[in-house]
Amino acid sequence: MQVRRVGVVGCGLMGSGIAQVAAMAGLQTIVREVSEPLLDKGLASVKTSLAKFVEKGTLTADQAAQAHARLRPTLKLAELADCDLVIEAIIENLDRKRELFAELDRIAKPEAIFASNTSSLSITEMMTATKRGPRFIGMHFFNPVPLMKLVELVKTVVTEPAVVELGLDYARKLGKTPILTSDRAGFIVNRLLVPYLLDAVRALEEGFGTIEDIDHGMKLGCNHPMGPFTLLDYVGIDTTYYIAEILFNEYREKRFAPPPLMKRMVIAGMYGRKAGKGFYDYGDPKNPKMNRQLLG
Ligand SMILES: NC(=O)c1ccc[n+]([C@@H]2O[C@H](COP(=O)([O-])OP(=O)(O)OC[C@H]3O[C@@H](n4cnc5c(N)ncnc54)[C@H](O)[C@@H]3O)[C@@H](O)[C@H]2O)c1
Repeated sequence: MQVRRVGVVGCGLMGSGIAQVAAMAGLQTIVREVSEPLLDKGLASVKTSLAKFVEKGTLTADQAAQAHARLRPTLKLAELADCDLVIEAIIENLDRKRELFAELDRIAKPEAIFASNTSSLSITEMMTATKRGPRFIGMHFFNPVPLMKLVELVKTVVTEPAVVELGLDYARKLGKTPILTSDRAGFIVNRLLVPYLLDAVRALEEGFGTIEDIDHGMKLGCNHPMGPFTLLDYVGIDTTYYIAEILFNEYREKRFAPPPLMKRMVIAGMYGRKAGKGFYDYGDPKNPKMNRQLLG
């Protein structure tokens, strides 16, 4: 089976990028949202991103216009009936995702493959809302999708090997590098990244150094592009806390448990960059200052 027509459900931060990269790869792409304004917002971000590729010389103006023309927006799920691959990127809520997949299962052709872009939910639990378990995978893209090269391809205990191969080929067709993993909380990247971020918070709680010193340590000593606290503020303290809870519930290991300081920050609304305050204060966004109130 060849993927010729792609359906994307959700045109938010991730869905708009997933739809854009499919259209850039030359595929007819239909993207579904729940309202006209949200669809407009998602498509406007695709337009801005395509324009940046043209500015940088990665795409010609003509190629960008053609990619844009391959994208068809819709509010009707029924229009995804002919898609060979449907990628879901709606809100991170298992009940909502199961409802969506159950409805899609009735609409989509039997041979179509379903994929979820979830960061933390179980692919197996979503799959059981449909009758196409062997044709159901996880396809975990990274933000911002048009720039980030990685896709985690997630197989379950019942995924057909040919469907895994098709998912890997699809990611390569987008110019991405896929890595294969199985359906366990965190997949590969968050399984390694989240305990590291939680440990940075513990090191701060234990007085190993200041926020800036720990960030500088990992940036300059390990050549990381940013330190753990800058990254936590970027990803969102709330999002990381939520993923840590899921990892802890799956593995019941202390290293996945969110530290008390992180919990207090979430309760206080200090979510990081998006809230204007986290481990740093973004009162002047170009010149973040260490949040000295956090300890002591
Ligand atoms: N933000 C990230 O960095 C990131 C990275 C990897 C994976 N993810 C995953 O991607 C998914 C989407 O995250 P996001 O950050 O793009 O969220 P988002 O809130 O920006 O976008 C979600 C969109 O889905 C829409 N939506 C909800 N129900 C819908 C439905 N039934 N049909 C069509 N659209 C619907 C919402 O209106 C919203 O616009 C989540 O599962 C998340 O875990 C996010």
